[in-house]
Amino acid sequence: MESTTSTQSLNTAELEQKVKNMYRDVALNPNGQYHFKMGRPLAEMLGYEKECLDLIPAAAIESFAGVGYFCDIANFKEGEKVLDLGSGSGMDAFITALKVGKTGQVTGIDMTDEQLEKARGLAKVANFDNVNFIKAYLEQLPFPDATFDIVISNGVINLCPDKEKVFAEITRVLKPKGRMVIADIVTEQQLPENITCDSALWASCIGGAGHEDTYKRSIEMQGMEVLYVRNNSAYEFISKSAKGASKQYGVKSVSLFAEKK
Ligand SMILES: C[S@@+](CC[C@H](N)C(=O)[O-])C[C@H]1O[C@@H](n2cnc3c(N)ncnc32)[C@H](O)[C@@H]1O
Repeated sequence: MESTTSTQSLNTAELEQKVKNMYRDVALNPNGQYHFKMGRPLAEMLGYEKECLDLIPAAAIESFAGVGYFCDIANFKEGEKVLDLGSGSGMDAFITALKVGKTGQVTGIDMTDEQLEKARGLAKVANFDNVNFIKAYLEQLPFPDATFDIVISNGVINLCPDKEKVFAEITRVLKPKGRMVIADIVTEQQLPENITCDSALWASCIGGAGHEDTYKRSIEMQGMEVLYVRNNSAYEFISKSAKGASKQYGVKSVSLFAEKK
């Protein structure tokens, strides 16, 4: 995860390790204590349909650590090619695979080995033949230009110090008029350095959250148009420090739909 960041004193190598450690634990120990809610209760609270959750591997749902719901705005169609950025244990990838059907294809990428192993094992056991998981970074996608109809991502881009690079890569791999449909954490006020440089809060999806206006501008600067944004008021942090930062600086979850021009 080599990247520049506007947060001068953030050690990006240390941050990458902290993020990997946290999401290794999320894959291996989904019942542990985290700053955020997880699993099926979180998924249902955010709006995922019970009937849909019943059709995918339960172990993918138990490690779900997303921040919002976007299936209702994605308008997935049979046969589409989808890329899931930071696919974790695979919950969104499996749900999307059902929506695009046997003629469609879902590729999940993640940098954390334990998440990838878990997702790959579940895909094999549950016979999800139209899903595959690849080790890769959001900042350097291993795909040719104009490969995908849709890029999805849930709770991941806030973890990336160089968001402009990520949005440039997303735009590059989308086909013309392709959609980016994501849920992520943004802020209403600029976060102070004691939060942006706290790698534990960063790994918990708070420290790296960008100001909502800057976030939207970064997307549009790369050649996409933001067509819809909604606040996911059901999403909330759990720990005292995370709750405090969230309240003070308006740290919140949004679902966002953008289209490549
Ligand atoms: C908050 S979890 C969300 C996982 C999944 N989307 C879900 O909803 O459960 C973030 C995931 O993104 C991955 N990740 C974070 N930064 C990444 C990067 N720069 N490149 C690839 N994967 C990354 C982590 O390994 C982790 O699995």
